Amino acid sequence: MEFTAKFTNPQKQRTNCLVITLFEAKKLSATAEIIDKASSGYLSRLMRSGDVTGRAGQTLLLQKIDGVEADRILLVGSGKDKDMNQLVFNKIVNSMISALGDSGAKDALACLTDISINNRDPDWNLRQAVILINSSQYRFDQMKSKKIGNKIKLQKIALQVQSKAGLKKAGVAIQQGKAISTGMDQARDLGNMPANVCTPTYIAKQAMLMAKGEKKLKVSVLEEADMRKLKMGSLLSVSAGSRQPAKLITLEYKGAGAKGKPVVLVGKGVTFDTGGISLKPGAAMDEMKFDMCGAASVVGTLKAVTALNLPINVVGIIPATENMPDGLATKPGDVVTSMSGQTIEILNTDAEGRLILCDALTYAEKFKPRCVIDIATLTGACIVALGKIPSAVLGNNATLINNLIDSGKEIEDKVWELPLWDEYQDQINSNFADMANIGGRDAGTITAACFLSRFTKNYHWAHLDIAGTAWTSGEQKGATGRPVPLLTQFIIDQL
Ligand code: BES
Ligand code: MN
Ligand code: ZN
Repeated sequence: MEFTAKFTNPQKQRTNCLVITLFEAKKLSATAEIIDKASSGYLSRLMRSGDVTGRAGQTLLLQKIDGVEADRILLVGSGKDKDMNQLVFNKIVNSMISALGDSGAKDALACLTDISINNRDPDWNLRQAVILINSSQYRFDQMKSKKIGNKIKLQKIALQVQSKAGLKKAGVAIQQGKAISTGMDQARDLGNMPANVCTPTYIAKQAMLMAKGEKKLKVSVLEEADMRKLKMGSLLSVSAGSRQPAKLITLEYKGAGAKGKPVVLVGKGVTFDTGGISLKPGAAMDEMKFDMCGAASVVGTLKAVTALNLPINVVGIIPATENMPDGLATKPGDVVTSMSGQTIEILNTDAEGRLILCDALTYAEKFKPRCVIDIATLTGACIVALGKIPSAVLGNNATLINNLIDSGKEIEDKVWELPLWDEYQDQINSNFADMANIGGRDAGTITAACFLSRFTKNYHWAHLDIAGTAWTSGEQKGATGRPVPLLTQFIIDQL
């Protein structure tokens, strides 16, 4: 979909479809007023007749009417003024795009800044609309023999801006929306790709492909032999049972030259999590192909940052491996030595995410980070605690955590903090090593973060548990592209 910012007279604008909003209780939006006047009260009459109420998400498609240049007018209800919030806005945009998709329109002019949302400037509407519309058009058909293709005729949407002076800022918002969408699509493609294709090697290849021709983006890949030299005994203990070689992928985006300290993103890349010798039960095990969605979000975010050409340095680190049972696989009770020198008793081979992350987090030190954020589908307990609305955030620096919370609110990709109190640390004590890799049934998300906190003492660090947000199950099963919006917004907010 092509998006542009436009400041134009809605009555005079030639377009296949003019989209305007109506409030409930027979109230016209500013643009609807103009169109109503131009058509000698046609919209008012429609509202009086009861054919359109303005209920949030209600749509009515009108063919050409006298006094207005557009071939069609799509009326979209925006509900009661006082009930307006971002959820209602999502509903409006989704109804709009589905009605436009059902119509014959190839292009449209949408007047979405008539809607005003508490504490949001009008450009927010535009950026959000771009993300929502692109997201609604996402299809994963790479594995289908007959492609679904993009069936809707609509190709171009112009977004009406409130003033000529506002065009430039609106253009930036649209640009950001597009970049975030591209990053999300990339993350979703990687996540949805089945694990027999999406191996550690495949992720490395995709990262390389992405960097091709991008001057500011460099990708390098460490092999298992390199990891052995670096003494990454914890990471290697997870890949021990897999025929697919593990890869440690580093993506370096240099937008701020040699000096700027980078934001470092570390993404869990378990391309399939069987649980290893602590084998998972069979139900819904297919969804463990999504256990690399942290890695996918790192790739997607670097894609967005590169597209926006942001003046900042960002490093992505992806420990990528399968977690498989095998004759050579790690066994419960095995003790391994991490790159940091700390030893770990592996009581459950299904708590593998933290085992690959801890070595990647130690490796991250070499980039002299301004902060490190790891992103991982780490614990089922996170879904029990918070459901599928926010990602969990924990960390060792309040400012970093609060910045992530703020960026999440701004872009509607929310996070919620869980406490990382020292009292929880005892749960991962071990009789045989420096620590155990599990902390019992209580507070599973927190004890997982406790484990990681022992490897992140030398920098500001936050951990995002995306177990509940990275994909959806059921009929709409698929990767969501989260938290690419959050991470991209966070990086923009650092500028
Ligand atoms: N990848 C899983 C976490 C997960 C499970 C995310 C289900 C989303 C849905 C992780 O590797 C795992 O298996 N965690 C264990 C940890 C436990 C053994 C301490 C879990 O959550 O059960
Ligand atoms: Mn696991
Ligand atoms: Zn896992």
